[in-house]
Amino acid sequence: MKKIDTRVVHGPRHEHDPLTGAHRIPIYLTSTFVFKDTKHAERVFSGEEHGFIYSRRSNPTVEYLEEKVAYLERAEAGLATASGMAALNSLFVKLLRSGDRVIASSPLYGGTYALLELFKDRFGILVDYIPATEFHLKLESFIDDRTKLIYIETPANPTLDIVDIEKTAKISKKYGIPLAVDNTFATPIIQRPIELGADFVVHSMTKYLSGHGDTLAGIICGPADVLKPMKNKELRFLGGILSPFNAYLVLRGIKTLAVRMRKHSENAMKVAEFLHDHPKVEKVMYPGLPDHPLHEVAKKQMNGMYSGVLSFIVKGGREAGRKLLESVEIPSLAVSLGDTDSLIEHPASMTHATYSEEELRKAGIHGGLIRLSVGIEDAEDLIQDLDRALSKI
Ligand SMILES: Cc1ncc(COP(=O)(O)O)c(C=O)c1O
Repeated sequence: MKKIDTRVVHGPRHEHDPLTGAHRIPIYLTSTFVFKDTKHAERVFSGEEHGFIYSRRSNPTVEYLEEKVAYLERAEAGLATASGMAALNSLFVKLLRSGDRVIASSPLYGGTYALLELFKDRFGILVDYIPATEFHLKLESFIDDRTKLIYIETPANPTLDIVDIEKTAKISKKYGIPLAVDNTFATPIIQRPIELGADFVVHSMTKYLSGHGDTLAGIICGPADVLKPMKNKELRFLGGILSPFNAYLVLRGIKTLAVRMRKHSENAMKVAEFLHDHPKVEKVMYPGLPDHPLHEVAKKQMNGMYSGVLSFIVKGGREAGRKLLESVEIPSLAVSLGDTDSLIEHPASMTHATYSEEELRKAGIHGGLIRLSVGIEDAEDLIQDLDRALSKI
């Protein structure tokens, strides 16, 4: 198996278009595909021959992206979706029935939490949350006959808490319950959950995989016997498929994923160290810092890089935080992450506003917490900008 830096560039097979020799896979902007004759149509419809029918079922550009991300995650198959939320929704619809139980790590991205709550209210699915930092220690005591999915996010959005994937996977295997990991923050450059024993990986490809803040996209990676039939059922009928143009944007982004993740990680480490020593900062949450409570686990499962997102609390709480958000010049005050540009936001009132005050407290999302997605700008410029903004508090 080639190294990950080669794999992000070259993918599982040549992209070359056999018809024209185009070096890059074409964007097949077509809704439908023409059959040679009725016999050909019958063969493609019956699955006897590989072919394309309609872009809601499959599309060559999207299919190449699915193969590529599955190859990077060391999964058998991939299923691309219109957004990260569409990936989660499709996976939950596939794996869960009313009365089933999900055990999830806490905190989760606000949208994921809200989606699980929706499944709870509408379809009678029970959800138990265990704090990420003690997830594998408490997991077994929550498992019963109705548990059909273990779902974790690591590093967690927005606290950067870490779940031990390998230890969690050992327990999930012991009970035969699928383990799904949201790998959005780390990407396959830094962490490959399937190699550590997970069954499914989901991504918001809106973030690092596309990397340039110009598209929404999602993917589920996992066993072919689960995902391939979904293409012709859950995904085809729920309809949350990825457009070929957006698939192209993600493919383009992935070419530079390895170099970007290295730069994001280097920059975030420098910014985290600066904030850690700053007198106006109360706390910094970044798994690369030696005093992060699960730094040793992060070191073990994250390839020595810790990605580009960090959170911090400034002294003076929410009001001081507001002042900082309005004083920085380089990071944009915006949700999302994993962009080339630094983005800064306030989770309690933005990305995690789906949590009530009580739930925020339980999930460890402090009202004064600020999340910074460190871009690939010059780290010294970012530090100077933050220093100047902090001096205004
Ligand atoms: C960890 C995580 N998972 C999933 C999602 C949802 O992805 P999307 O916005 O592409 O639907 C997000 C979005 O912020 C996220 O941060």
